[in-house]
Amino acid sequence: MAELKLKDVRYRYGKAARDALSGVSCEFRAGEVAAVVGPSGSGKTTLLSIMAGLDRPSGGEVYLGDKELGGMDLDEYRRRYVSVIFQAFHLFPLLTVLENVCFPMELNGVPEREAKGRAREKLAQVGIAEEKHRRYPSQLSGGEQQRVAIARALSSGARIILADEPTGNLDGENSRNIVDILTRLAHEEGYCVVIVTHDMAIAEAADSVYVVSDGVLTRRI
Ligand SMILES: Nc1ncnc2c1ncn2[C@@H]1O[C@H](COP(=O)(O)OP(=O)(O)OP(=O)(O)O)[C@@H](O)[C@H]1O
Ligand SMILES: [Mg+2]
Repeated sequence: MAELKLKDVRYRYGKAARDALSGVSCEFRAGEVAAVVGPSGSGKTTLLSIMAGLDRPSGGEVYLGDKELGGMDLDEYRRRYVSVIFQAFHLFPLLTVLENVCFPMELNGVPEREAKGRAREKLAQVGIAEEKHRRYPSQLSGGEQQRVAIARALSSGARIILADEPTGNLDGENSRNIVDILTRLAHEEGYCVVIVTHDMAIAEAADSVYVVSDGVLTRRI
């Protein structure tokens, strides 16, 4: 069964003259990496925002498994089921690395000791050494910051990872490293991973590729 399914989704921003997404239908599965490519302004981030539950579609439906999101509390959906990773990392600058990773668990009511233990585990999983746990994000390289952001995404327990240009601010080697981590999470741990990217190498390595053009999505692979 698809982890996340969109059925004829349409979205229009406030007073915009036209739809940012129209008639979008697709399925994203657990254990797979899907890439979404397309020109600037075509609707990729809008699509991810709908899937992340940041907004309701103007038409159509989004399903988590067999449950329609319309009947769910979006706050809970965002806290428990999806994690978003951004190009600009979006770590909290005044929290340490460890505190950043603990944050979503605290929101979910996980006791502090347990949260710290799990955070250390997730940081190890993305290759952030113990000595860096007390640093602030500004004291890390870009690649390290993105790995902390992934650890934070994992710490919520969400099984769907939505990444918007996660390697946009990174060089080739760091990009590959991030994509390797995301791919491993999908293939070995069964996460459902969706990556918006301009990087054709990332798209080619994905299990499926979608192209968005003027708000219309088509599957390529
Ligand atoms: N908050 C907003 N209000 C009104 N229109 C918006 C808003 N955000 C995006 N749009 C419009 O919706 C369309 C799709 O934007 P979106 O951000 O999804 O594009 P994108 O494919 O992510 O582009 P990029 O590759 O540049 O990030 C664009 O025409 C954009 O101008
Ligand atoms: Mg975008």
